[in-house]
Amino acid sequence: MTTVSKSLAYPAHCGVKNSLFFNEYLEKLLEERDEIGLTDMVREIDAMMLTVEPGNAIEYIGELCLMSPYWYLHTIESASHWTHVLRIDGQSPDLIVREVKHDGIRGIFRSLNEVYPIGNNKPNSRYIGEVLRVTDLAAVVKLQQARGISFFSSEEVARLELPGNLAISKPSPYTHNIVAYVERGSQQERHYDLGFKDVSPAAYEVCQRAKERQQQLGIAELILPVDHLATRIYSQNREVAILEWLSLSSYYYWGSFDIIDQNSSTNVTKSMHCQDELHSPAKVFTANNTPYFVNHLKIFPSPTENYVRNYGPRLHHLALAVKDGKQQGVENIDYVVEAIREEGKSFLLDIIGSKFEGLKQIFSSASEHSSLIIEYVQRFSGFHGYFHANNVAELTHAAGIEEALMVMQADGQQAIKPS
Ligand SMILES: [Fe+2]
Repeated sequence: MTTVSKSLAYPAHCGVKNSLFFNEYLEKLLEERDEIGLTDMVREIDAMMLTVEPGNAIEYIGELCLMSPYWYLHTIESASHWTHVLRIDGQSPDLIVREVKHDGIRGIFRSLNEVYPIGNNKPNSRYIGEVLRVTDLAAVVKLQQARGISFFSSEEVARLELPGNLAISKPSPYTHNIVAYVERGSQQERHYDLGFKDVSPAAYEVCQRAKERQQQLGIAELILPVDHLATRIYSQNREVAILEWLSLSSYYYWGSFDIIDQNSSTNVTKSMHCQDELHSPAKVFTANNTPYFVNHLKIFPSPTENYVRNYGPRLHHLALAVKDGKQQGVENIDYVVEAIREEGKSFLLDIIGSKFEGLKQIFSSASEHSSLIIEYVQRFSGFHGYFHANNVAELTHAAGIEEALMVMQADGQQAIKPS
């Protein structure tokens, strides 16, 4: 058998001491993945799926079309869902926004929210997971099943009203995200085998209005596709969540940062096939350094663990790249954020970082429709790193403050107050 990919060829940028278990199985799993051909058969992230509350999708599409390069494409109607497809250009992943038709519809993704005090406030709102393009679906599924990965049956996929041409893994016990595989040639058009496809006049209109506004504001060319996806997990699941994702995908371990004063770490994985994140976003896992029951013995805050206890493990933010350069004398990220702020969108703090540090970043407030945060990140020429530790610490802190406000707004009896 010819081994093409070398998943261990990239030395990790490691600021966190990983366990012997992690180091041993990182090597074993990736070597095996290369040898059996999975690394070559599993390609880039082809789509990202999320779900919103009934009646929220149109407004959310308008919000996304204003804040990102996504365009509304069409809606697929099935018995109890509308599935809205948003696309940039076919080179970057699609965004699939699912909306239940009414609040009485129960399902596995809703159940994942219902046991968490703040997650339960918007039970239909959560990121679901990624669709990975593969070159041979039957072979990938067979190999993954032999490695212990469980998939929904085709009957279950039909009952969930998810596209029938996807093989969909059961939600991860560590991240609660699913991974789906779709077979497609790189030049073939994307297709979701689900039902009747049509253009929703309301979604089309909010998209057109947002795109016109982007042009008027001069930001249409400045906001680029998704740079990374950041999932928050329980502290004890940091290593296994990374290894599980590497088992499911063809990503490699890029490295970890210890964000000491936020008592958490940020762990980065990247695509073996796409060096440019805009074609296949980096996947990032953030976890507390210590479990919640010892936090009272430490002097540091624990915003990451608190977030997971309030919402459950889930995607925390998706980060959009901002084109490097200046507009009217200010860095593009400053220009974009000011323009979007004037459109009524709020941000958690000022833009942090600098050209000197290599990148500038900011978090939006969580969307009221999806609970997801959008990060904007501008990297300056010559910056090869991924994050600046000070930036991540400030962003994590800011997200913790917003969550404190949400805890106060929510039924405060149950929620875990950020320390
Ligand atoms: Fe981020």
